[in-house]
Amino acid sequence: MITDQEVLSVKQRFGIIGNSPLLNHAIRVAMQASPTDMTVLITGESGSGKESFSKIIHSLSTRKHGKFIAINCGAIPEGTIDSELFGHEKGSFTGAHEARKGYFDVTDGGSIFLDEIGEMPLGTQARLLRVLENGEFIKVGSSKVQKTDVRVIAATNVKLFQAVEKGKFREDLYYRLNTVPIFVPPLRERGDDVNLLFRKFTTDFSEKYSVKPISLDYEAKELLKKFPFKGNIRQLKNLAEQISLLEENREVDAITLAKYLPSEESNLPAPYNSKNGKDGESSSDFSEREILYKVLFDMKKDMTELKKLVLDTYQSGGINQNILKKHHSLFEDMDTSVSFDEDSPKESPSSMPIVLESGKLASSHSEDYDDEGIEDIIHEEDDNSLSIEKKEKELIIKALRKHNNKRKYAAQDLGISERTLYRKIKQYDINE
Ligand SMILES: Nc1ncnc2c1ncn2[C@@H]1O[C@H](COP(=O)(O)OP(=O)(O)OP(=O)(O)O)[C@@H](O)[C@H]1O
Ligand SMILES: [Mg+2]
Repeated sequence: MITDQEVLSVKQRFGIIGNSPLLNHAIRVAMQASPTDMTVLITGESGSGKESFSKIIHSLSTRKHGKFIAINCGAIPEGTIDSELFGHEKGSFTGAHEARKGYFDVTDGGSIFLDEIGEMPLGTQARLLRVLENGEFIKVGSSKVQKTDVRVIAATNVKLFQAVEKGKFREDLYYRLNTVPIFVPPLRERGDDVNLLFRKFTTDFSEKYSVKPISLDYEAKELLKKFPFKGNIRQLKNLAEQISLLEENREVDAITLAKYLPSEESNLPAPYNSKNGKDGESSSDFSEREILYKVLFDMKKDMTELKKLVLDTYQSGGINQNILKKHHSLFEDMDTSVSFDEDSPKESPSSMPIVLESGKLASSHSEDYDDEGIEDIIHEEDDNSLSIEKKEKELIIKALRKHNNKRKYAAQDLGISERTLYRKIKQYDINE
């Protein structure tokens, strides 16, 4: 019985991220099969992580001190694959100046990983079947039967049985290879693993490129979960690298994320995609409707907030600072010099935006504006904005210096979020 702890330690050892039941099941099967000498057939879409499984199987087997060779059958030309795998005698073909040992000879006592086994030519399949049946093989150009003791781990990203039906793959070999089948699930069937992987990759890339890690908001995470990822983890890794390098806003929402996802893979309502929706809504995982609902919902929220603001203004005889503060959510998305900080609603009173603390808008005489209209307030604010901005810039520089440019601590000190600090550093062009 394999414990959860043992599965976890294998994941750690082989750098496998994810907790989905399908992934855990595949790892357990690999662990169970490892100590036996059975032939294993790993199936799974391209980029789903089949390679690690072959390493798990070899490393946990009694052959772990023996050789492990990984061969991509699809990458070796048909004319040389027999010689590569089984060796050849001198002069057996043009260019065979020396005799050469094949991989099945070299890995005697170890394991061979035959990737893309579906690409193996039929003649080579016959030789392979013989090795699997009784450990025998014959070098190209030789008549001498040799023996070897190699464990075969094969992998395919195509439905191998379909190749059998088409006569491209030997049926007897298929069953012989498939003694222990391991199915590596596609990313889209691993639920929230996609977000664990994304976080891991973006953290890695942030270190590699010395940039702030990307984080996703709730909707963006949901979008990742729904995206089909035909290229699986390899595709996700590339996506993570692309966003880490290119995206200015490090907190990414669904709309921004959609821009990086290939539109031809889904019906995503990507803003730059004019082809989307061609298959109709029913086949869409992440429908345009969802985005529209969100936009409408946000507009409705703003309308309600605006109504409340008008009412409050009316009841207090005019607009004032407290009213503006109370309805700050209306100004969240505006890059306005009226610095109602984007994060302020989520922050405690002690972490109110610094402009409000140091500037006129936060001053106690805000009641003075009671009889004035909103235009006056903005006008007043304009007059003072330069000195407010100067102060703010100074404060930010001071905080950054104090914390050796560690933005996280500087932001804490300033009582603002890291995201706001990042934005302000850019806004004031601070190069500390
Ligand atoms: N669970 C995982 N956690 C972390 N990284 C992973 C995981 N699965 C795969 N990867 C990474 O994703 C990439 C693709 O995996 P891999 O090369 O094993 O795919 P594959 O199934 O062999 O694809 P192909 O059929 O195209 O050869 C590799 O960089 C691998 O390290
Ligand atoms: Mg591979």
